[in-house]
Amino acid sequence: MAVITCIEDLRLLAKKRVPRMFYDYADSGSWTESTYRSNQQDFEQLKLRQRVAVNIDNRSLRTQMIGQDVAMPVALAPVGMTGMQHADGEILAARAAEKFGVPFTLSTVSICSIEDVAEHTRAPFWFQLYMMRDRDFIGRLIERAKAANCSALMLTLDLQILGQRHKDLKNGLSAPPKPTLANLLNLATKPRWGLGMLGTPRRHFGNIVGHVKGVENMGSLSAWTSQQFDPRLNWADVQWIRKRWDGKLILKGIMDAEDARLAADSGADALVVSNHGGRQLDGAPSSISALPAIVEAVGSRIEVWMDGGIRSGQDVLKAVALGARGTLLGRAYVYGLGARGEQGVTECLDIIRNELDLTMAFCGLTDIHQVDAGILLNVPRPAGG
Ligand code: GLV
Repeated sequence: MAVITCIEDLRLLAKKRVPRMFYDYADSGSWTESTYRSNQQDFEQLKLRQRVAVNIDNRSLRTQMIGQDVAMPVALAPVGMTGMQHADGEILAARAAEKFGVPFTLSTVSICSIEDVAEHTRAPFWFQLYMMRDRDFIGRLIERAKAANCSALMLTLDLQILGQRHKDLKNGLSAPPKPTLANLLNLATKPRWGLGMLGTPRRHFGNIVGHVKGVENMGSLSAWTSQQFDPRLNWADVQWIRKRWDGKLILKGIMDAEDARLAADSGADALVVSNHGGRQLDGAPSSISALPAIVEAVGSRIEVWMDGGIRSGQDVLKAVALGARGTLLGRAYVYGLGARGEQGVTECLDIIRNELDLTMAFCGLTDIHQVDAGILLNVPRPAGG
């Protein structure tokens, strides 16, 4: 086994080991994928200011996100169908996050259910919610998240309709995969994945199948989204949720300063500057370029986090420098999971921590709370208003 030294190594290994339709599901953006690409490219444009001959002994990355202690300003993002990247994927990722000391977020459209993840972990995790037409179901999901002791609810605002990802349509994405010739040929080349899947009963959308009347065999994420997700979602619904969930509330999918003000007014505890990993509105700016204007607009009223394009600890540091008080990792950990299960997620987190720690030190700082735009040579001016 080759030595794993960076997230790109995990991505390449995941590409070998994970069936094509699930690898592609993670590694794609909508339409031309221009936003998906700029999420990463815009991080590369930011140049760091090297400092020398300052005492860089005894460094700390510890901080808090919504009042919770974290080993570094990173949480695992909600990712749909994580349990198709590797058998029992959500449980394994949650365990790796727990051991490392960062929060794990379970997606509504996960394979392992809320109850299943709670049963197999000890640290409280966060639950991501999509607003659906069936309010009884949403009410029950919120109650299930409470019963599982989830310590925050993350409401996603930017996916009431699904951005088109060409590869998912071409691959006929479904969970579990349909036994077509193309799928069977591809699965035959992924023996580890297949053995894992044969050994687990968790192969369906665990939060949904068996919990919604008439949904016994829901395999297609796109069919489910178009039938169930509520396109009427608006700020009154956010209040509806706020009333039912009195714990910490995080709003994800904010790209505009005006929306950020409304998010801060809503009484949420944090917002995530996010274009959904470039999977929704292709042509939107990168998350890192949208961050400064949002921090400027609401950073004193609500915790501003970001996700999208983070593939290294340097990216985390740059986001913190531009005012993010936390970041979410999606694909980076999913690659680790697809490559090597729980161990791969741990490797991902170790890589990110190491890069973050060393880069902070090269910039002459020893505590993550000292990091600000002073470590950047080319500070972007807030875009938009
Ligand atoms: C769901 O959240 C997706 O981006 O596919």
